[in-house]
Amino acid sequence: MAHPTARPGRHAPRTISDARADPHTGDLFEATPHALQPPAPEPVKSLHRGTNAELIREVARLVIADGDLVADCTWNRGVFWRKTPLGRFTLVGSDLDIAMITTAEARHRVPTLPGVQVPRPHFLVADFTALPYRLQSLDVVVLDPPYTHTGDAFDHEWYGNLSANQGMTHQDILREHYCRAMLEAAKVLKPQGQLLVKGKDEIEHGHQRWSHHEIPQAAARCGFTQVDLFPFESLAGPGLFPRTQRGRQRQAQKNHSYLFHFTLTAPPLPLTRGRPRKGSPRTTLNGDRGKAYLQAKLLWQHPQVYARYMAGELDSVYAAAREAGLVKTR
Ligand SMILES: C[S@@+](CC[C@H](N)C(=O)[O-])C[C@H]1O[C@@H](n2cnc3c(N)ncnc32)[C@H](O)[C@@H]1O
Repeated sequence: MAHPTARPGRHAPRTISDARADPHTGDLFEATPHALQPPAPEPVKSLHRGTNAELIREVARLVIADGDLVADCTWNRGVFWRKTPLGRFTLVGSDLDIAMITTAEARHRVPTLPGVQVPRPHFLVADFTALPYRLQSLDVVVLDPPYTHTGDAFDHEWYGNLSANQGMTHQDILREHYCRAMLEAAKVLKPQGQLLVKGKDEIEHGHQRWSHHEIPQAAARCGFTQVDLFPFESLAGPGLFPRTQRGRQRQAQKNHSYLFHFTLTAPPLPLTRGRPRKGSPRTTLNGDRGKAYLQAKLLWQHPQVYARYMAGELDSVYAAAREAGLVKTR
């Protein structure tokens, strides 16, 4: 039967929601198959202004696939995940601070009806430099270490900066937090796994410290390739470093941070004993003493020295190997 308002010569739409109105006449006409498709989601953009929760919600659409196993290794208050639907992947939150994890567990313990499954994260207390996961078991690792060598009461109280970074220089933070955590991520991520790292440039004693340059460089030394960079201006919290400068202002206050997206492209080769098959890329303890061998051996047996190499304190893998006593100094 023809729809009362259908245009002559056209089929009547099945339901009113199948119909579209002519913008000029207001007449309804049947929707084309194209129009019946759900609207395409908004593309994810690189530059974000807003809250961390909104930033992660957008980036998660791009980076986290359905069914992924995701570990946020610096959970704190879990602000990152407050706007991301948690139904399509498994999230594990960990932090070194027991109080944070106890609070998180209490917050997410919601009573449910029998048989009703509410997606919620799993929690554990863990150090991001020694993660308690099986090797090559995770799809995504998220790191947001305390990144300022100084800070005000807000950073200290909210982000645990004082307990984590007390007495540390910018270089210390890069080495002890970023490098060692990325080193660990390279072990527990599956090949081609995704790594999201939050960081911020700093000013230290009047000098620029370009984390946006240092972090990708360190990640590359650990086998990661940079996929994307999301500059971010926080519209919540203070978000400015340094907040006060004595005398004339020399450098711009930093009102932006970065979220880096890396993928594990060259996982460090596991060391195995015995001769590799002909043509095998496997490194052996008895094999040659090339760069790949030294890198793998440092990574697994001398992670602290390797972190120093990644942070640029030791300028080559051979210098790191000498430091660790793997090769003799002449
Ligand atoms: C900047 S906050 C993370 C904020 C978090 N992304 C959020 O959305 O709320 C940094 C967190 O890293 C934790 N942390 C510091 N050192 C750590 C370590 N070695 N291992 C694990 N977590 C650590 C601190 O306890 C703090 O909770």
